[in-house]
Amino acid sequence: MYQKTIILTTLLTSLLTAQPLSQTTVPTKHNPNLTLAQIAEIQPGLGTIMIEFGHRFHTLYYAAKARNWDLASYQLHELIEAQEVAETTRPKYQEALKSFEDEHLHRLQTVLQEQNSQKFESVYMETLNACNRCHKESGHPYIHYQLPKEPPTFLKMSLPKEK
Ligand code: HEC
Repeated sequence: MYQKTIILTTLLTSLLTAQPLSQTTVPTKHNPNLTLAQIAEIQPGLGTIMIEFGHRFHTLYYAAKARNWDLASYQLHELIEAQEVAETTRPKYQEALKSFEDEHLHRLQTVLQEQNSQKFESVYMETLNACNRCHKESGHPYIHYQLPKEPPTFLKMSLPKEK
């Protein structure tokens, strides 16, 4: 009986004082007190992912216009990967992001795979409108994506023809 009480008390004490896993420190060169919770907290949120969305969506357009279908598909693939990060870090947007992907991004994917220049313009513009619909519906009507008038200059849009 006496022994049982000791074991129980020890168990309870260790349970009560045990540090939650999130408070485990992962010391780095610059911060010896960095905790797992802090590392989790600084994962990219939707705002950060959206900057990437804007960037890739812009590049995708001009790559497709230049018929560099591989570059356009690559941009879309990376955009979807970024979206998956947002679904994990901001689960409240998971459903809306998933249905945006199913209804629009997959259609865009098909057009790129088919290298269909004719359909591309309208599918792209429908997708762009859906981007802005989500901004409005999520309470950010002041965020209105517009396609830049010029192609990005940090990547070549059309590649030199192979000889
Ligand atoms: C699921 C809804 C949703 C969809 C779909 C969506 N966005 Fe967003 N977007 C947001 C929200 C919410 C914000 C504001 C982010 C925040 O408050 O953290 C935002 C912000 C932005 C910003 C501003 C980023 C900044 O901080 O400068 C850009 C640019 C952007 N989105 C582009 C796009 C593009 C391009 C698409 C489509 C390819 C798209 N978004 C699709 C919800 C969405």
